[in-house]
Amino acid sequence: MRNIKFGKPMIGEAEKSAVKKVLEGDILVHGPVSKEFETSFASFTTAPHAVSLSSCTAALHLSYFHYGIGPGDEVIVPAQTHNATVHAVELAGGKPVFIDAEIKTGNVDISQVESAITPRTKAISIVHYLGMPVDMDKIMAIASKHKLLVIEDCALAIGTYFKNRHVGLFGDVGCFSFYPVKHITTAEGGMIITKHASVAAGITRQRAFGVDRTPSERSIPGIYDVTMLGFNYRMSEIHAAIGIEQVKKIPGFLSQREENYFCLDKALREIDEVSLFDSTHGDFKSSYYCLSVMLNDRLTPKRFEIVDYLNKKGVGTSVYYPRPVPHFTYYRQKYKHPENAFPVASKISYSSIALSVGPHLNTEDMDYIATTMKDALKSLA
Ligand SMILES: Cc1ncc(COP(=O)(O)O)c(C=O)c1O
Repeated sequence: MRNIKFGKPMIGEAEKSAVKKVLEGDILVHGPVSKEFETSFASFTTAPHAVSLSSCTAALHLSYFHYGIGPGDEVIVPAQTHNATVHAVELAGGKPVFIDAEIKTGNVDISQVESAITPRTKAISIVHYLGMPVDMDKIMAIASKHKLLVIEDCALAIGTYFKNRHVGLFGDVGCFSFYPVKHITTAEGGMIITKHASVAAGITRQRAFGVDRTPSERSIPGIYDVTMLGFNYRMSEIHAAIGIEQVKKIPGFLSQREENYFCLDKALREIDEVSLFDSTHGDFKSSYYCLSVMLNDRLTPKRFEIVDYLNKKGVGTSVYYPRPVPHFTYYRQKYKHPENAFPVASKISYSSIALSVGPHLNTEDMDYIATTMKDALKSLA
């Protein structure tokens, strides 16, 4: 029996010795290593500016904070996402306005966005769900017509391209995650990329208390001014050292993911009782975060039995995400959306099983996952 983990950090000797080198030096924060990580991530994505942060949640929160989104402001958000996408709006004091997903990709249903815009709307939050790009031409046309900010949540989208351009570069900022099951990891970590020099400069200050000088920029040690409000959302040199080594591995990771994805996709498409999302086509290039299988109405009540069968046979699974965000208790109690308000996001959340295509696996693992899934459906029929 195989032991196929849903996510496995790919940490090698290079990461270990890079961390050791930082630990043997004197600078653990505010140093050259996080700068080098920013430069290498900017180079991979072709971003004019990149700012390292402690997580993607910090990146999202700081984006809204930087732009002054607060009480009385509305932000359009997808219902089908991680709660962090929406928490960031709440933390800033804004009001999330949820939009349902489209069934082909799980991304936001763009046809519903414009009718949700009110005079209070300040921003559109875009999530490239499971690494499939949203049609950013359409989103940017709506945003520029209504003069709205666009914040891209690219937590699952390292290696996602729309029209040959890396996502995160269409909107005002793109926010990335380096949590262990993501495309690359720094244990915890995040990054903002942006085309705006002033936003990068502001966020660089606001991630570190809003002080006007980092320790190396101070002519007299310990002397600085605080020119704005800010957080402690920095990334340490230890985390950044891992990141530099991981960025070098992105091309290899992505090609293994792509190979795995198409192997599994091909095998699972033979099953009539499940449906799969659209993937890379034309100008839409996925980052292949995972492969989510949607069960039909007959199988949906048996979802956790199927998960149990897979897990017992050594196939790790997950769910992206367990509920549409407005269905989580916090949001249900606060906004009281009817249970049937987001039918497509509900269908995805309540009927899907996420399977791994990560670079720790190969096509033999994909064959095993597909065969085990087919066996599970047969045995539970
Ligand atoms: C779409 C999305 N946004 C944001 C986050 C939060 O990322 P982090 O854990 O780096 O704060 C996640 C985490 O899985 C996510 O899936």
